[in-house]
Amino acid sequence: MSKSLEGVRVLDMTHVQSGPTCTQILAWFGADVIKVERPGVGDATRGQLRDIPDVDSLYFTMLNHNKRSVTLNPKSPKGNRIFTRLIEECDIMVENFAPGALDRMGFSWEKIQEINPRMIYASVKGFGPGPYEDCKVYENVAQCTGGSASTTGMVDGPPLVTAAQIGDSGTGIHLVAGILAALHHRTHSGRGQRVTCAMQDAVLNLCRVKLRDQQRLAKGPLKEYPQYPNGKFGEAVPRAGNASGGGQPGWIVKCKDWETDPDSYIYIITQAAAFAGLAKAMGREEWLDESHQWSTPEGRLPHLDQVFAEIEKWTMTKNKFEVMEILNPLNVPCGPILSMKELAGEPSLRATGTVVEVDHPERGKFLSIGNPIKLSESPSDVRRSPLLGEHTEEILKGVVGLSDEEIEEARAEGAV
Ligand code: COA
Repeated sequence: MSKSLEGVRVLDMTHVQSGPTCTQILAWFGADVIKVERPGVGDATRGQLRDIPDVDSLYFTMLNHNKRSVTLNPKSPKGNRIFTRLIEECDIMVENFAPGALDRMGFSWEKIQEINPRMIYASVKGFGPGPYEDCKVYENVAQCTGGSASTTGMVDGPPLVTAAQIGDSGTGIHLVAGILAALHHRTHSGRGQRVTCAMQDAVLNLCRVKLRDQQRLAKGPLKEYPQYPNGKFGEAVPRAGNASGGGQPGWIVKCKDWETDPDSYIYIITQAAAFAGLAKAMGREEWLDESHQWSTPEGRLPHLDQVFAEIEKWTMTKNKFEVMEILNPLNVPCGPILSMKELAGEPSLRATGTVVEVDHPERGKFLSIGNPIKLSESPSDVRRSPLLGEHTEEILKGVVGLSDEEIEEARAEGAV
């Protein structure tokens, strides 16, 4: 089966996480992704958080699958010419350097368009145009400035960052959408275009429901938040602990052995339509009696803390999987808190290729996450990340068209 992006070539000037996430998805869809790395140095993450001395880190190997690596310094005279040739030969260029880095290399958007008018040039930056546009940004900065941290955390606690890499990987995935739209546009316009996504914007987009709540707050208290009815609301959307972000109340409750197992918890949503089933399963039919104040969703809202405290008394008598087995057939939405250890060993995730074992010549076998986006006609395979400069010669000959002699000259200059 052919891959969906077969025949598309990507000039990958990305590093760390946000950009590499984007180009990894393009590579999984079948694009030929050529990762350009500084000679002798490479992507900084190759050496970060190493678990084995002198071997590419898991940070790098899990974000750079299915790519080819060429070492090249576009700032050197010969490197500049090779880079220009690569721009001519590629369809998409992706970068996430600090603002202005590509311009300082001599490759502004105007220059890139001159070299290849069909080029789609995509960038991740921390901020869009405005007061912070020149700032360098990492994941947690984006989470803090994009509205995630101020709305995450327990009610009385400080702002909290989340483990999900919504700033880095989240922005990378947004960028993929923009690139694919531009690629489609090019099929009829014949021209490339500039695609940009700021990490602050992507995080804010993912926090859309909190801006919804900001506007609802102007009209009265947020009744599904734990602050209602006894706590106080200020001027901004407060942190809401584990309250559900939707119209159906939810909370995390303890399960059996929670005292010794930090992940013995389950999320339960008391969906109105399934509340009767939940009450019956727990043996609390009295809640359904018309005269009981909890018999309606409106009646339960001011007492959610007590409702979930009662539910918890029941869940604490069972393990999280038993609770799920009882509640799922009753259409009570619930999800056990799964640890990374449990996810790594989950057979269904292995079967779909979402969790894969990959072999690497220097580190041996390791677990990675495959493409979570499944295409029926062009499934993804997961190939190991390249060693630094592993494909330099192959790319300089096959894509750029250099002779052995020219490659030697480029090496002598330190360009590759
Ligand atoms: N050959 C020679 N030089 C190269 C090179 C190559 N192949 N590739 C990169 N470089 C140089 C660049 O020209 C630049 O040099 P300059 O600043 O002298 O012009 C430098 O390496 C890259 O610098 P920078 O991007 O500033 O790296 P950093 O480690 O200081 O900052 C980030 C890292 C992530 C903070 C920054 O790149 C950034 O803010 N990126 C945008 C937002 C982003 O994606 N953040 C999330 C990262 S997961």
